[in-house]
Amino acid sequence: MKKMVCAAALATCGAAMAITDAEIEKLIGEMTLEEKVGQLVQLGSAGKEGGPLSQDATGVALPADVAEMVRKGEVGSLIGACGVTNFNAFQRIAMNEARVKIPLMVGHDMIHGVMTQAPIPLALACAWDEKTWQDCGRLIAVESPAKGCNWTFTPMVDMCRDPRWGRIAEGPGQDPYLGGKMGAAMVKGIQSKAGALPVAACIKHFAAYGGAEAGRDYNTVEMSESTFRNVYLPPFKAGVEAGALTVMPAFNTLNGVPCSVNKWLLTDILRDHLAFKGFTISDWCGVSECELDHHGMAETHAGLVELAMDAGMDQDMMAGLYRKELVQLVKDGKVPMAQVDRSVRNILQVKNALGLWENPYIDEAKLKAQIDLAAHARQARAIAAKCCVLLKNEKDALPLKPGVKVALVGPGAEDCVSISGTWSAYIENKFEMTLPEGLRGAGVTFTYTPGYDWQKGRADAKALKAAAKEADVVVALFGQKGTDSGEGWSVLDITLPKVQLEALNVLKRTKKPLVAVLINGRPLAIPELAEKADAILEAWCPGTSGGGAIADVLTGKVNPEGRLTTEFPVSVGQLPLYYNRLRTGRPSDVSAPYCSCYRDGPHQALYPFGYGLGYATFAYANELVKVEGEGNQRKVVLSCDVTNTGKVAGVETVQAYTRQMVGVESRPIRELRGWQKVALAPGETKCVTIEVPVAQLGYWLKDRFVPAAGPMRAWITRDSVSGKTLEFRL
Ligand code: BGC
Repeated sequence: MKKMVCAAALATCGAAMAITDAEIEKLIGEMTLEEKVGQLVQLGSAGKEGGPLSQDATGVALPADVAEMVRKGEVGSLIGACGVTNFNAFQRIAMNEARVKIPLMVGHDMIHGVMTQAPIPLALACAWDEKTWQDCGRLIAVESPAKGCNWTFTPMVDMCRDPRWGRIAEGPGQDPYLGGKMGAAMVKGIQSKAGALPVAACIKHFAAYGGAEAGRDYNTVEMSESTFRNVYLPPFKAGVEAGALTVMPAFNTLNGVPCSVNKWLLTDILRDHLAFKGFTISDWCGVSECELDHHGMAETHAGLVELAMDAGMDQDMMAGLYRKELVQLVKDGKVPMAQVDRSVRNILQVKNALGLWENPYIDEAKLKAQIDLAAHARQARAIAAKCCVLLKNEKDALPLKPGVKVALVGPGAEDCVSISGTWSAYIENKFEMTLPEGLRGAGVTFTYTPGYDWQKGRADAKALKAAAKEADVVVALFGQKGTDSGEGWSVLDITLPKVQLEALNVLKRTKKPLVAVLINGRPLAIPELAEKADAILEAWCPGTSGGGAIADVLTGKVNPEGRLTTEFPVSVGQLPLYYNRLRTGRPSDVSAPYCSCYRDGPHQALYPFGYGLGYATFAYANELVKVEGEGNQRKVVLSCDVTNTGKVAGVETVQAYTRQMVGVESRPIRELRGWQKVALAPGETKCVTIEVPVAQLGYWLKDRFVPAAGPMRAWITRDSVSGKTLEFRL
């Protein structure tokens, strides 16, 4: 019998193919309409709040309503980490008591870890390192089963150009190439089958959710099809190609049509153009958000279900509308059975690719052996240190000199959880480490005086001055606590709150060297800090081992190598701000009369895309570009010599950018085409070569791919604004 072929995309998950294509078809043939619709429904694993419990055959107490739905085949998946015991109990009901034996999936948002938290994805992106991203995915894969999950709604690969949008914290930033690499690596890590039960990844939010107007969450998205295809779509393409088993359509409208019922998006683009073979799961009540009083796409719920099914939405998260309407719609001939079968097939194929018929249960012995929280904490610490970005370092403020006395000030230092970042609900790692613990472990002499809050009240000037007086250097925390970014956390203002500016001024007046450590889930507008602090270390929301990681970087045990993947504005008025913008026909020189500038401040970023310092310095020389090869093999080869001109070993992230000078549509100022990290000892020089396939340089014009041609510019350099301009032609 022919083995099930889920297409290459699913095969990359390393699927243990437990049943065949023919067996899946046979199963679909045997299912009642109600059972088929059941597969398209996702409801909460906790059931009705305060509802009764019932015991399963082995005596496990389960929410009675959920157990009954599983028994009757009325749900295809559950949402909400339900714990190992309940997961296995629900699965036993699905596999032993239900009429058709179809294993369940239980999903939750394990975004940057589970019991152990690595830094938020926006920070992870700053590592510019596929291994780090894959490792984080594996951490999620190993820890998710411990909470009773075999599916995570990760990675979010939404591009974002406006940090007022709180969900910028959950994604890779603003570059489609880097975002795609990060998404693909995380998908591979999550779906590596490393844990006690295979875990499915979900790329989201399809699509362009990060383009919400004015950074207001869930807001309208209006953009040209070229921008959509060239900027917002590529990370999803990379995720699909990496084998992501599920995709979550977004809440927002895209050019007028909500993604949840957008047939062009879910069928033409996702299935036909990207060749996605897994299944789609709506966002939380995404289908019901299209109702009369919201997006307004149909008068009735039945009308919405018709639209969503026709668009290609396979599973309905929490809205309960498929459950309520779909059986009747099929009976009335309004939704063809073939459409239902198609979605059921997509779901069963994913369950099969996960190996769920073969291994439906969480292997508790394997789980126990794998949950080594001390090792996970060490790993999270190493990852967090890699994600720190040194934004400023003058007067040799960092690393801290051995033996210096430090005054640690600012909020949040003693609480890992509050700075861990959004989606940190399941932290359970007793090896978490605060900054004072990290400093103590590194043998640093310090005092800790909070001195001010993130937002509220006034700075305690007296306490801050007293702390600084006794110290050689002040290390001060600024920014936003971990819960001040994430879903529903859009803000008008991304400057430092008054109380923090007050503290900054008090500390500045003490004339002690001032090292600022930024904690935040989004880029902030921090011109005052940039001016007054001697050093600024961007630590983001660094996860549960963040305190150890920050101490490692401050003391020089780790030489910071992170690079920004979003721009830091000078002012909120510059937003949206992104490096890969189009050119204008006007000068960007403010002394010109009709310039493309602001009259009351700069238009350039405070810290640009790709930017970051370290404790070593690097010099670039002999930058070259050439085109090699023929036909499909043609590639652009960029090279340069990089020398470590500093006193310590360091890692430089060499970045390659191009600009197409003439296009059918105007082309961006620069686009990232590749990068390479190079480790150099003091005085050492290495030649770095970055090869870019010419095919990668083309762009989409609506649905037509236009190969790159004509005059081109290139840079092989340290960030998106520097470097010698090289010319070549295609
Ligand atoms: C979010 C998704 C998330 C889902 C389930 C929604 O509100 O937009 O990103 O996966 O909830 O928790």
